Amino acid sequence: MIASQATLHAKTGGVVPEVAARAHVEKIIPVIRLALKRAKISIGKLAAIAVTAGPGLAPALAVGVDTARTLAWSFDLPLFPINHLEAHVFSAFIKEKNFSLPQKKRVFPAVALVVSGGHTDLVYARDWLKYKKIGQTLDDAAGECFDKIARLLNLSYPGGPALSKLAKQGSATINFPRPMLKTDNFDFSFSGLKTAVLYYLRNHKLPTTNYTLSANIAASVETAIVDVLVHKTIQAAIKLKAKTVLLGGGVAANLPLRARLKEAANKNNLNLLITKPEYCTDNAGMIGFCGWLHWRKQNFTPLKKIVVRAGWELT
Ligand code: KG4
Ligand code: ZN
Repeated sequence: MIASQATLHAKTGGVVPEVAARAHVEKIIPVIRLALKRAKISIGKLAAIAVTAGPGLAPALAVGVDTARTLAWSFDLPLFPINHLEAHVFSAFIKEKNFSLPQKKRVFPAVALVVSGGHTDLVYARDWLKYKKIGQTLDDAAGECFDKIARLLNLSYPGGPALSKLAKQGSATINFPRPMLKTDNFDFSFSGLKTAVLYYLRNHKLPTTNYTLSANIAASVETAIVDVLVHKTIQAAIKLKAKTVLLGGGVAANLPLRARLKEAANKNNLNLLITKPEYCTDNAGMIGFCGWLHWRKQNFTPLKKIVVRAGWELT
């Protein structure tokens, strides 16, 4: 069950924390009610509640955490505070009907690429919920890069899907930089790519009404981002002798990224698990699933210790 705020944020070209938090307050109880109705279950029959505790915008997170804490206390249920990036790491394992996991030895060790609007993280996982971050972006995240370049091209919010749609009409004729492609680490950097596009547009007196040129720019940008993401992820998996590559986060919905990663994983004899499109962009399904992973390990946190953690990075 998703109540989208995309139309609301499109008006301002991005998320205004106060506006997002107010919309959360309005929607949270109706959405919970509808989700329970669709699942044909009453709240008291639940085994536990999971809630996003971070990272993200504190005012919006507080609405969820306060509501979940109140419900958990009222119905005497355990509450699991979930790191939404951790949920992205494991979202490729979500099955809709009933949760079950493949054999551990067939999956791990795994390398996960989490690509979202605020993060581009590479994670080495040796088991479910047991992992270490091995790389991250040093500046802009991949999604942020999609969004900012989409704005330069006068595309609508959210920029990632809009840029990708335009890219389909073009071809990757412009050789934009592939930042940090060859560096001997697992980190990323995308702000240089954004600047290169800015200069390209300035030098060519763009944005333009020339649709083909805009589409070629979009295709070239998308190819550059995908090149870096795929290369670094596969290199990490090879170097760390991983069996599996996992892909999650909003940008994981990107079709060329999914296709190119599949090709590269096949070529290198790596298993690949890609999150279903509906569980890529932030969603409560993946939070529930991650809550279930904690619940099966009996990883309980006392209610009074559950707080908003706006800057909660993976470690
Ligand atoms: O994980 P997510 O929903 O939110 C954060 O945790 O940030 O990721 C949102 C990001 C945005 O930057 C959005 O433009 C990008 O994911 N995104 C895409 C696509 N769908 C969403 N980027 C490229 N191609 C897409 N199809
Ligand atoms: Zn996310």
